[in-house]
Amino acid sequence: MSPSFAADIAPMLVPYRENMLWRFDLGEYAAVKANAQIIYEALTGEGSAGPMPPPPLPALSGADIATFKSWMEHQCPP
Ligand code: HEM
Repeated sequence: MSPSFAADIAPMLVPYRENMLWRFDLGEYAAVKANAQIIYEALTGEGSAGPMPPPPLPALSGADIATFKSWMEHQCPP
């Protein structure tokens, strides 16, 4: 089954939403979908802002990052 925003993506991002409200709401489907590519780059540390969550916070797990990628490949289902 493909990942969904409600079941898979929101739970991994919501703990960080307060710190990112200046830019977008990581708990809001439309915002995460619209920014999915830069969010993915931030999770993998490839983005220009550096790795997100920023050190010393630990990165999300490889499994969570793979789930995010799969969600994007399935056209970001809600
Ligand atoms: C999984 C969690 C997070 C994700 C996916 C995320 C995502 C992002 C993205 C995509 C950007 C670049 C925005 C842009 O270029 O327009 C960014 C920038 C930034 N984020 Fe996060 N973020 C997360 C958590 C956090 C946390 C926990 C903090 C603070 C404790 C934080 C602080 C910042 C700051 C200060 C910037 C600007 C850095 C710069 O431009 O050099 N983020 N984040």
